[in-house]
Amino acid sequence: MKKILSVFGTRPEAIKMAPLVKVLDLTPGIESLVCVTGQHRQMLDQVMQLFQIRADFDLAVMQPNQSLNGLFTRAMSGVDEVIANVRPDVVLVHGDTSTACACALAAFHRRTPVGHVEAGLRTGNLSMPFPEEMNRRTVDGVSEWMFAPTLTSKANLLRENLQGRIHVTGNTVIDALASTCDTLQKDAVLGARMRADYPWIDPERKLILVTGHRRESFGDGFRSICAALAELSVRRDVQIVYPVHLNPAVRNVVMSSLGQCDRIHLIEPLDYLDFVWMMQRAHIILTDSGGVQEEAPYLGKPVLVMRDVTERPEAVAAGTVTIVGTRTERIHAAVTRLLDDAHYHASFARRINPYGDGKASQRIVAALLGRSFREFGAGVDESPSIPSAHAVPMQSGG
Ligand code: UD1
Ligand code: UDP
Repeated sequence: MKKILSVFGTRPEAIKMAPLVKVLDLTPGIESLVCVTGQHRQMLDQVMQLFQIRADFDLAVMQPNQSLNGLFTRAMSGVDEVIANVRPDVVLVHGDTSTACACALAAFHRRTPVGHVEAGLRTGNLSMPFPEEMNRRTVDGVSEWMFAPTLTSKANLLRENLQGRIHVTGNTVIDALASTCDTLQKDAVLGARMRADYPWIDPERKLILVTGHRRESFGDGFRSICAALAELSVRRDVQIVYPVHLNPAVRNVVMSSLGQCDRIHLIEPLDYLDFVWMMQRAHIILTDSGGVQEEAPYLGKPVLVMRDVTERPEAVAAGTVTIVGTRTERIHAAVTRLLDDAHYHASFARRINPYGDGKASQRIVAALLGRSFREFGAGVDESPSIPSAHAVPMQSGG
C-alpha cells in the first residue's frame, strides 16, 4: 500500500488537486490522505464542499493580511508535524504558492519524496509573478516527480537539468473544468438556479468578466486597471462583473475606485460552479489569474491578461489570449477593439485545448504507481488503466 499525502491551501490549488484526490481515493493500492494548510479559508472551503473532499489535517494557517514569511513558516512547521506522524511515501504539492513551497521543503527535509503537480511553468523573471516564480523553481528543485502540464513546461525543466523524473500529464484544471461543465450541462435545475441567483445580468449587454490579485500589481497596477474599467463602464452596451479577491490589498483599491460606477458589479468571490457558469456567459475575460488563462480557452472565450509576462504561452501562441499589461490606455484599447470588431472577436473566440484533455489526474496516478501510459500531447490517446473520477458526482448545492 502506497501512502500519498496531498497538501494544498489556496483556492486554485484546491480546484486543481480535487480531481487528483478523487482518483487517488478510488485507486486500489493507494492510501490517500489530504492535508490543507488553510492558506485561504473561505475561498478554499467552498471548493472542498463542491468537490466533496474531506481534509484529514487542517493547519488553519490563514491570518488577515498575512505576511509571506509568517504564512510560509506556519505552513512549514505545521506540515512538518503531519509528515512526522503520517510518514507518507510521497507528498504531493501543487503549483507555486507559499503552501506548495513550504510543504515541499518540509518533505524534503524529512527525506520524503515530493511530487510536483503543475511543474515547469516559468517566466524567467523572479519578480513576475512574485513570489511564485521562486516558489515553483524551488519546488521543482527538490521534486522526485515533476508532472509537467505541457511539452513547453517539460522543455523548461529539461533546460534546468534537474534531478527528478518528468512526465507530461496535461493540467488537472481541465479535469476539474470538464466535470464542472458536465454538471452544469446535465442539471437543468441547476441552470435555472444560476439564472435566478444573478437576476441583474442583462442579456442585452456584453459581459466583461474581471479577476485580479497579483502581488506585483498592488498599488499603481491596480489603480490603473480600475481606471480602465471605470472608463469602459461608460459604454451602455457592456456590463462588468468583477468578483473581488479577498486580499485586502486588492479589495481596498477596487472597492474605493469602482464602488460607485454604473454597470460595474463588484461581487464576492464566486463559488467555482458559479464562476464557471459566469465564464460561459462572458464576452471577454480580463484577468491576471493563472487558472483562468487555462480555463477560458477551453470555453472558447477571449482572454486579455493584465500582466507583463505569462508562464502560460500556449494559448497566446494559439491566438486566444493576449498580454495587455496593467496600463489604463492599453487595457481600454484592447477591450474596445474586441467589443467593436466582431471579426477580431471571432478570431479569439475559438475553443482550443493546449492545457489538458481531462485525464491528467489519471496519468499522474499511473506515474506514481510506475505504470506505463501515453503522455499528454504524445499523439493518439488511450486512457491510463486508472479509475476515472468522472463518475463521482459533485455537490451542486441544489
Ligand atoms: C495566493 C498565492 C498566489 C495565488 C493566489 C490565488 C502565495 C504567496 N500567493 O495569493 O500564488 O495565485 O493565492 O488566489 O502563495 N483572504 C481571506 N480569505 C480567503 C483568502 C484570502 O480573507 O479565503 C485574505 C486574507 O486577508 C489573507 C489575504 O487574503 O491574508 C492574502 O492571502 P494570501 O494567500 O497570502 O495571498 P493571495 O493574494 O490570496
Ligand atoms: N475562480 C473561482 N471564483 C472566482 C474567481 C476565480 O472559483 O470568483 C477560480 C477560477 O475558475 C480558477 C481559479 O479560481 O480555477 C483561479 O484562482 P486565482 O485566480 O485566485 O489563482 P491563480 O490561478 O492565479 O493562482
